[in-house]
Amino acid sequence: MARPAVQFACTECGYSAGRWFGKCPGCSSFGTLVEEVVGQLGRAKAPPKPLLRLVDVSVEEAERIPTGVAELDRVLGGGLVPASLVLVGGEPGVGKSTLLLSALQAMSRTRRVLLVTGEESVAQVSLRAARLGGADAVEILAETELDAVCETLESERPDVCVIDSVQTLYSAELGSAPGSVAQVREAAGRLLRVAKEAGVATILVGHVTKDGSVAGPRVLEHLVDCVLQFEGDRYRAHRVLRAAKNRFGSTNELGVFEMTGAGLVGVPDPSEVFGHTVDGEPGAAVACALEGTRPILLEVQALVAQTDLAMPRRVATGVDPKRLAMIVAVLARHAGLPLGQADVFVNVAGGVRIDEPGADLAVALAIASAARRAPVRAGAAAFGELGLTGRLRPATQAARRLEECARLGLREIVAPPDTPEHAGLRVTKAETLRQALRAALATAVEEPTEPRALSR
Ligand SMILES: Nc1ncnc2c1ncn2[C@@H]1O[C@H](COP(=O)(O)OP(=O)(O)OP(=O)(O)O)[C@@H](O)[C@H]1O
Ligand SMILES: [Mg+2]
Repeated sequence: MARPAVQFACTECGYSAGRWFGKCPGCSSFGTLVEEVVGQLGRAKAPPKPLLRLVDVSVEEAERIPTGVAELDRVLGGGLVPASLVLVGGEPGVGKSTLLLSALQAMSRTRRVLLVTGEESVAQVSLRAARLGGADAVEILAETELDAVCETLESERPDVCVIDSVQTLYSAELGSAPGSVAQVREAAGRLLRVAKEAGVATILVGHVTKDGSVAGPRVLEHLVDCVLQFEGDRYRAHRVLRAAKNRFGSTNELGVFEMTGAGLVGVPDPSEVFGHTVDGEPGAAVACALEGTRPILLEVQALVAQTDLAMPRRVATGVDPKRLAMIVAVLARHAGLPLGQADVFVNVAGGVRIDEPGADLAVALAIASAARRAPVRAGAAAFGELGLTGRLRPATQAARRLEECARLGLREIVAPPDTPEHAGLRVTKAETLRQALRAALATAVEEPTEPRALSR
């Protein structure tokens, strides 16, 4: 028997080569190539399979499985697709195991569900199950051997299976350690085949790397049907679930949870939780952002502080740093705010990340409010995209945003020119950033504690 060849694979992009490189030729990352032992190739020739026309596919096959966790269903696009492979990534301790055990518990009432645990013992899982309550019908397998897991799935054929986590699975055929690129890739590939052939909707739990992407090669993300990221601060109670990739639904949907003693509880109305500011406080504005199909009100806070640093800091939590740099530049150029000698910090409530350009105006308002010490008018919110010329661009689905603002009891909205009217709301249409600031900011309040105040 020939000795298995040794290959070097990139942990970032999955590029593999026969020799080691300091810099990956595939993705140009440094020091990411690791050695892996390649399994034996040359399997038996497979017989051809009969073909099927799409018109012959019965609708039942594509019917989704509701997970019983409303926020998870929303992010998945209406439930789990049978025989699909879903990857759930998140920081350690964010609540991946808790979320999936709750989902299994709800699904176990009507379907056969299996939890394969490689990280925790059966006793530890049962402790958590006792805390969550009602998970008696969930079947559990404590196993890390890939072959054993695949065999079990093929023979038992549960409707749904959760693998916690894919990094703990290992195949004895490959020489490398569990969690290595080769092992993770092999495990995901084998599970994908089993999921499709045995019709098991499989959810893989994946660890994340320091920069927040799912550990293991990128190939893993290409293999699976859906990649969900579970985010949020471990030290705060709110967690946000979003789809980074979804073959069966939108990737814009957002699920919000709160971690409680009895497990993760969905927050069906995040605007109520995150959308309030303290009246008369400078440096805070309410953004009406659109996350998928759901408009959500979020408090954006900003702090502008004089600095002696040659390169003032622009620190963003929940806002893309490049977007923040752009907004600061537009504020400086088109609204005359002297931010060149000031650090700017921006924070979005609840650990939510806003990707949508419609939230630009609210971020700009919060910064301007902090810089001028002028609070945003009580009961006001804003939306609209900021152009580089200082002009406001229309935001999509304005009517739905207005509806959400009215529902939450806001009275005044500052928005781009073509925004429709809405009963019960005063819509102030601003063509430029300068007009928007004039409309939204109340008069400045004096704060004697600060030595130097920024003026207009
Ligand atoms: N009794 C409790 N009350 C409140 N919160 C709890 C309780 N027990 C656990 N938690 C929360 O659950 C979190 C751990 O959840 P879980 O084990 O599901 O995380 P995980 O993402 O699976 O982590 P890992 O990656 O380490 O497996 C803890 O960080 C803690 O916030
Ligand atoms: Mg876990």
